Amino acid sequence: MQEITVLTLRKLKKTGQKIVMITAYDFPSAKLADQAGVDVILVGDSLGVVVLGYQDTLTVTMADMLHHTKAVARGVQRAMIVGDLPFLSYQVSPELALANAGRFLKEAGAQAVKLEGGAEVAAAVAKITGAGIPVFGHLGFTPQSVHRLGGAIFQGKTVKAALTLIEDALRLEDAGACGLVLELVPWEVATLISERLAIPTIGICSGPDCDGQVLVYHDLLALNPDFQPRHNRIFGEAGNLVRQAIMAYASEVRAGAFPTESHTRRMAEAEYQQLKESLLQPR
Ligand code: KIV
Repeated sequence: MQEITVLTLRKLKKTGQKIVMITAYDFPSAKLADQAGVDVILVGDSLGVVVLGYQDTLTVTMADMLHHTKAVARGVQRAMIVGDLPFLSYQVSPELALANAGRFLKEAGAQAVKLEGGAEVAAAVAKITGAGIPVFGHLGFTPQSVHRLGGAIFQGKTVKAALTLIEDALRLEDAGACGLVLELVPWEVATLISERLAIPTIGICSGPDCDGQVLVYHDLLALNPDFQPRHNRIFGEAGNLVRQAIMAYASEVRAGAFPTESHTRRMAEAEYQQLKESLLQPR
């Protein structure tokens, strides 16, 4: 059992301590995040864009998600692991949602799942939590609806839209959600939602008053030089470090400076002499 549970997250909210969530998609990144002491590791369907090179998250499959969640689970001892339900794995029916959510726990080693949407997914949230699986909601900009929303744009900017978001947040909590990601929600609206819910909110580009924050692993480490979202802060120039290290490796190989004697081992001298002699014999 992981050290961080839904009870830990509730307690952190109650005591005003911020929750730290980060995405990870593989064994080494998950291990580093866990060792760094984050509370929650989200195997987001951002996997598709960040790691698999897809155009958007819509093409991500259950197989993709389970494969990467399994890798993450092998590297994590302490943090809670949340698996993202991919597009159309939970919208068709609450029964299908439960069956797919269950696979993240039974097959992949996650402790919770996340899905996108408001009132329209409340029945799925209730069905999944009814089976004992913690569910995170996700409101605001929901990337799986990018075509309906017309792009990665802020949601809840008008009174009407903000009231709908607040109502959706309450519906998800009533349905049993254990937490709520708020993406691209105006600061004031995210604050109002966080104040109204007993469950923790986790913000991304939604201001500092959420109960926690989430960033994408590759963004905060600047591992993708072509993409810098506005909400991101680079906490380490790992991309440059990696590029420089690989350039140094290539130049040492080309110059014959790597490997050296310490990177291999020699045969016993007697064996080597005998080998050379045997090679002199006709075949
Ligand atoms: O897929 C993802 O990484 C996410 C986070 C950005 C919240 O949903």
